[in-house]
Amino acid sequence: MSLARINRAFLQRGVRYLAEEAGIDQFVDVGSGLPTAENVHQVVHRYRPGAHVVYVDKDPIVLAHARALLSDDRTTTVIQADAADPAAVLDHPETRRLIDFDRPWALVMVALLHHLTDTQDPVRVVGTFKDRMVPGSYLLTCNLLSDDNEHAKELEVSVQQHARTGIFRPWPVHRAYFDGLEMVEPGLVYAADWPTRASRRTATTAG
Ligand SMILES: C[S@@+](CC[C@H](N)C(=O)[O-])C[C@H]1O[C@@H](n2cnc3c(N)ncnc32)[C@H](O)[C@@H]1O
Repeated sequence: MSLARINRAFLQRGVRYLAEEAGIDQFVDVGSGLPTAENVHQVVHRYRPGAHVVYVDKDPIVLAHARALLSDDRTTTVIQADAADPAAVLDHPETRRLIDFDRPWALVMVALLHHLTDTQDPVRVVGTFKDRMVPGSYLLTCNLLSDDNEHAKELEVSVQQHARTGIFRPWPVHRAYFDGLEMVEPGLVYAADWPTRASRRTATTAG
């Protein structure tokens, strides 16, 4: 399976987990990307009709497509903001309209943090978002990983040659995104290894 498909499938499994099993009904999806099939609000609404979703992207083309898709959806909105400026996301009037930060909410940052530079300091950025989380909130994230695995090295070289965007960062940086948070089982793993609902149930039963 391609990297993009693995990432997208992880996003859908993670969001489903948050809506269906964790009971989250407020989502801020930063770096949401161009709307495609099975977008976050569509997955969420299957399990939590009426749940609120704020899409955030800095790309005006993404905004135009998302607005067209969401024109008559009052539970979901899209804003243009830079993830490197968390206050611009969290204090945006549309975010304040849909998200009650006194209640648990989910921060979704899938295939986003590797676009931030070291100067922008993604660990600090995530930390600033986490400062607005009350207990029961969640972080769902998945990013390019610099790993010793031979296949991972080949992938890193290929992505850097072709995409020319995206910083591969080592495990400790990915762990640091979750500092201060309790991990959902199975913890920090390759995206393809984050389980489906059925396999998580089997593991729980077996355990
Ligand atoms: C690879 S796409 C990921 C889309 C979606 N999250 C997914 O996983 O399918 C990355 C998106 O992040 C956006 N992006 C990159 N840097 C950003 C930033 N600093 N602030 C907000 N959005 C950003 C890009 O415009 C792009 O739409």
